[in-house]
Amino acid sequence: MNARPNGLIISIDGPSGAGKSTIARLLAKRLGYLQIDTGAMYRAVAFLVSQKGIDPGDAFAVERLCNSADIRLDSSNCSQRVFANGQDVTELIRTPEMSLMTSRISALKPVRESMMMLQRRMGRDGGVVLEGRDIGTAVFPDAELKFFLFASPEERGKRRFSELVGTGERVTLEETIEAVSRRDRQDSQRDLAPLRQAEDAIPVDSSLISIDEVVKKMEEIARKKIHQAGITT
Ligand code: DC
Repeated sequence: MNARPNGLIISIDGPSGAGKSTIARLLAKRLGYLQIDTGAMYRAVAFLVSQKGIDPGDAFAVERLCNSADIRLDSSNCSQRVFANGQDVTELIRTPEMSLMTSRISALKPVRESMMMLQRRMGRDGGVVLEGRDIGTAVFPDAELKFFLFASPEERGKRRFSELVGTGERVTLEETIEAVSRRDRQDSQRDLAPLRQAEDAIPVDSSLISIDEVVKKMEEIARKKIHQAGITT
């Protein structure tokens, strides 16, 4: 039997550009679960660090910021909005500069500790799909269902490039693939909660099949788990 009142905790970890956000959103919608984009939470902290002109190397100032920051995800309308100290930063946190800054500050202990605490509070009752890098390994090692989503750096770079061009950013494909690889290195080589596949996670290669097929496969597995856990809602 599942002990969580609202259903399973489902984690989707993996490198940037593997399609986690789209897949987590679609899977959560099909299951009637809440999507929690933990990358957006780290991005919101990075936004505050740069807005306040804090030096990411100043551990004391970063810690003080984390203790007072109010980071929220609002899914009440069709799209998820991200708020940092009451300001809607949904679009502002998606620039290439903010991606690199996020990768840098997400390696810091006070940032990880405060976000992890918040994510545990948001997800502990279940009925959630959390996407990130360390959900299945560090935030919810006891999640009922874990996926690890990946694709080649070239494929991920191409997807990211189309997204950026779509939002009017002036970047080249080569620069984008290089930025994706650089973030992979930063995210996988850091000391705290580095990106890695949990031993009990199901690996899914999103370069070989379409997003729809990935979601369908994950939904089937999730429904089986939900059935096994005897959840009726
Ligand atoms: O998923 P994303 O690209 O929005 O994540 C932005 C950055 O945040 C990424 O470089 C790694 C970091 N991150 C993390 O360290 N832990 C998570 N659970 C989610 C994201």
